Amino acid sequence: MRTRIKEIIEQGAVSAPCSFSGWVRSVRASKGVCFIVLNDGSTVDGIQVVAESTLPGFSSVCRIATGAALTVSGTLVASPAAGQQWELSADTVEIIGAADEQFPLQKKRHSFEFLRSIAHLRPRTNTFGAVFRLRSRIAQAIHRFFSEHNFLYVHTPIITASDCEGAGELFRVSTLDAAHPPLLQGHPDFSQDFFAQKAGLTVSGQLEGELFALAFGDIYTFGPTFRAENSNTPRHAAEFWMIEPEMAFASLADDADLAEMFIKYLCTFALAECAADMEFFDRHIENGLIERIGRVAEADFVRMDYGEAIERLQRSGASFAYPVEWGLDLQTEHERYITEQIVGGPTFVLNYPKDIKAFYMRQNDDGRTVAAMDLLVPKVGEIIGGSQREERLDRLEQRMAEMGIAGEPLWWYLDSRRWGSCPHAGFGLGFERLVMYLSGMENIRDVIPFPRTPRHCDF
Ligand code: 4AD
Ligand code: MG
Repeated sequence: MRTRIKEIIEQGAVSAPCSFSGWVRSVRASKGVCFIVLNDGSTVDGIQVVAESTLPGFSSVCRIATGAALTVSGTLVASPAAGQQWELSADTVEIIGAADEQFPLQKKRHSFEFLRSIAHLRPRTNTFGAVFRLRSRIAQAIHRFFSEHNFLYVHTPIITASDCEGAGELFRVSTLDAAHPPLLQGHPDFSQDFFAQKAGLTVSGQLEGELFALAFGDIYTFGPTFRAENSNTPRHAAEFWMIEPEMAFASLADDADLAEMFIKYLCTFALAECAADMEFFDRHIENGLIERIGRVAEADFVRMDYGEAIERLQRSGASFAYPVEWGLDLQTEHERYITEQIVGGPTFVLNYPKDIKAFYMRQNDDGRTVAAMDLLVPKVGEIIGGSQREERLDRLEQRMAEMGIAGEPLWWYLDSRRWGSCPHAGFGLGFERLVMYLSGMENIRDVIPFPRTPRHCDF
């Protein structure tokens, strides 16, 4: 296998012959020397290649364009230049794939907005290199965390007939002829569709995850989820990834404890295992990021009832665009105020009014709240949503009836409350929101390789 720049730099094998393949970030020729910064995606800095005028084909090497793919062989030597430890003194420079001045990434700095319009090329920039390396490592760390805690990894379906969150945000999956569907009483007849019923892309793997928790104890899902909500915000995508653990014989308090341990583990992991990229974010994206993440890794997350959160927002004297009143949902501005101004760190808000939450949440004895929790963090707002589930069949059926949710299509879910039901709890962590939180990136479109948002699905 090819040697990666990161591996060689970490070994620091001085004066050893070596060879790298990568893409040119910049070329600078001056008085008989040519400096090429080559990046192979393994580190943010890449390596500086030094070509002397004695190199065969020196004049064409000086004309190599930014963006070209090269293989360079030579000797790794200590660099006299500031800001880098090693450089490669080249013996041969082979052009594998040429580029020209039309290559869009010529400047050092481009706006994120412009880079979104060239999502097929932006992985070749320093910022997106760092983002997608972090994203990859964090995905692996998530599996590692659950593996260390003996959670079963379950693949829940992507095509489903049930809208878990009940918000009606399902993308339809259908093979009916859209222009001329078979009709039944004037409406499309889905009994003639591929699945013989209405189907869509999943908004959450939770309901199926619960069934597995009631067999394996502790499980998690980690997969793509889809929401056809028309919200054009920096925190919403139509396609995003969610991590959903579910624990049998567990309460809301256990759920919050798991979430806290999980987030701290991932903060510690990012600082220890993605240090170079985290330093890059700290320098170029958010000053103080490393300190912020370090504090979270050590912090005790605050737990606050929804009722108290409402009171403290009302008492704050701050003015908000949306009203603050018991019974209304918290908007992002409120969530951020709680975690940024009132608490100054990650905060669980617990026990929300039942009327603003999903049917499956466990009803509290007060008759008006459910055992729900959201974890709010500075800058992002809600990063986790979860709850203890209603395990009592009669209470669940009664709540579904109140909310107008038909029991028949969810017969399999209700069955789980018929035989061997037990208290259980889980949560969903939005993977992109986590990557935003860890990197300081402020738009969800910039932490997902090819973002899907309203009116955007090109590549
Ligand atoms: O709060 P949500 O809707 O909860 C659920 O779906 C539950 N079934 C989870 C569970 O208990 N197993 O979504 C969970 C998280 C949110 O806190 C947020 O981080 C993320 O998913 N999320 C989104 N991320 C990006 N774009 C969107 N449109 C998102 N909607 C939710
Ligand atoms: Mg939520």
